[in-house]
Amino acid sequence: MFPDHPYADWLPGSCEPWTVDILCSLIRATSPLYMLETGTFEAKTTKRMHWASGEGSTLISLESYKEYWEYASTECLDLKGVTVLHVEAVSYLMNYEGPKFNFVFLDDDHGADHVALELGLLYNFATGEGLMAPHGLICVHDVNGAFGLGPIVTARHGFLLNLPMLHKSGGLGLIQIPA
Ligand SMILES: C[S@@+](CC[C@H](N)C(=O)[O-])C[C@H]1O[C@@H](n2cnc3c(N)ncnc32)[C@H](O)[C@@H]1O
Repeated sequence: MFPDHPYADWLPGSCEPWTVDILCSLIRATSPLYMLETGTFEAKTTKRMHWASGEGSTLISLESYKEYWEYASTECLDLKGVTVLHVEAVSYLMNYEGPKFNFVFLDDDHGADHVALELGLLYNFATGEGLMAPHGLICVHDVNGAFGLGPIVTARHGFLLNLPMLHKSGGLGLIQIPA
C-alpha cells in the first residue's frame, strides 16, 4: 500500500478501513447520541467513530484483554465522551442499566453463539425488549465467510453488505431496530 494512502495506517486485527468508512457514514447520517463498540483492540475504529459523531455523543467501547484495554484507554484519554472499559461484552450487556443505544458496532468475539447472545440482549424481535433505542442501528463485523454470522443477521431482519475480504471473513451486517 502507498505510505501516504488514507488506508496506510490500517493494522491487521482492526476493522478494514473501507468498512469503518461505512460505519462513519452511518454515524454522520444518523447522529447517534449513545454508541457502543464491543472489542476495542487498539482503538482505531473507536477513534474514528468518535470523530464521526462529535463530542456531543457518548461512546462506550468494551475490551476484555487487559493489555489492549490499557493501550486503548491511553489512546482515548483525551477524547471527550469516550470510555474504554475492561470488561467481557456479554456480562456488560447483561448488567447494563444506562441509556438505550442508538448505534452499536459488534466486533469482539466472532463466535456465532456469542454474537447471537449479544444480539438477543441488544434487541429481542419477539418481545421488543432490549438495550436498543427505537430506530437504532446494530452493525455486525465479519458476517461473510468462516464465522457463520450472516444467517444470524438475516434471521433478525438485517441485511449484509459484501465488502472486500482481507482474511477468512469480512463484510458488514446491518440491523435496524423498529420504531
Ligand atoms: C477484531 S478485534 C476488534 C477490532 C476493533 N473493533 C477495530 O475495529 O479496531 C476484537 C477485540 O475483541 C476483544 N474481545 C474478544 N472477546 C471479547 C469479549 N467477549 N468481550 C470483550 N472484548 C472481547 C479482543 O481482545 C480484541 O481486542
